[in-house]
Amino acid sequence: MADKATILVQLDTDPLPSVFDRVVAVDSGAEHIFSYGGITPQNVTALVHGCIFTRGMKDLHRTAIFVGGSDVAAGEAVVAAVKAALNPFRVSVMLDSNGSNTTAAAAVRAAARHVDLASAKSLVLGATGPVGQRVVRLLAQAGGHVRVGSRAKEKAEQVCAAVRAHVPDAKLEAVGVSNSTDGPVALEGRSLVIAAGAAKAVLLPKKIRDTCKTLKVAIDLNGVPPAGIEGIDLFDAGIDHAGTICYGAIGVGGAKMKLHKAAVAKLFTANNLVLDVEEIYALALQM
Ligand SMILES: NC(=O)c1ccc[n+]([C@@H]2O[C@H](COP(=O)([O-])OP(=O)(O)OC[C@H]3O[C@@H](n4cnc5c(N)ncnc54)[C@H](OP(=O)(O)O)[C@@H]3O)[C@@H](O)[C@H]2O)c1
Repeated sequence: MADKATILVQLDTDPLPSVFDRVVAVDSGAEHIFSYGGITPQNVTALVHGCIFTRGMKDLHRTAIFVGGSDVAAGEAVVAAVKAALNPFRVSVMLDSNGSNTTAAAAVRAAARHVDLASAKSLVLGATGPVGQRVVRLLAQAGGHVRVGSRAKEKAEQVCAAVRAHVPDAKLEAVGVSNSTDGPVALEGRSLVIAAGAAKAVLLPKKIRDTCKTLKVAIDLNGVPPAGIEGIDLFDAGIDHAGTICYGAIGVGGAKMKLHKAAVAKLFTANNLVLDVEEIYALALQM
């Protein structure tokens, strides 16, 4: 008998399920996509049971769950509830709220082509957002020293605490970066900077970047001009600008899209996968 069709159940914490995630699901080869919005830990259990009590064991890997939405913390809470509801049977689950996991994994993968992350000293700007937090987590897991940048140092300290819950031996330092004096201090001795600031926010002006003589790689994830790191072009993908290898948002975005599709496709290879940022980064390393 022919294989059953693949079904991706898109659980979105926003009221309207993301069209972006649905288009990528189609392009990843999912044959049917069931999209639900307004998902919370309180209303998700019946949807999960619909996934696991319908198909026999041998077909369970052909149903999978994708958790998205603009709020990563809400997505994490839904994934926890999904895991609790996956009993006694299981289907695979992926979390990518706001594209945070696939974007962070693609950015860190790009950095790893040029610096040894185990010893690199990095600075993450805009580190309190969904993408920045995941970037910090991956860099910390790789073993290097990471400065965690925010306009408000207390917010950076909260991110450090959250990352330490996943990476207890993380070498993290919270830094406040809110004026032209802070920038050079935060950059001092760094070989890698990744800017994950909000759209249109300039986090690193060129004159401050030029004060750092140790910088080898600069990655800017802001896709809406002006650039988050002044002087980086949106399309830069490993371009050397005066001795610093640069990536812009679209330069990283191509790899992010490939990774997103590969991760969705991987969901249908087994019924017990949980793809969070670490698993998605591991996939990026294989690509
Ligand atoms: N290239 C890709 O494929 C791709 C995919 C997804 C997302 N992105 C981009 O990645 C970036 C990060 O996404 P996100 O969702 O994590 O961002 P976000 O939550 O919108 O913002 C990240 C951080 O930027 C800081 N920020 C906000 N407004 C600012 C301002 N006016 N000036 C300076 N800093 C400001 C805030 O940190 P503090 O308040 O702590 O300073 C905030 O936590 C965005 O630019 C997004 O568009 C790119």
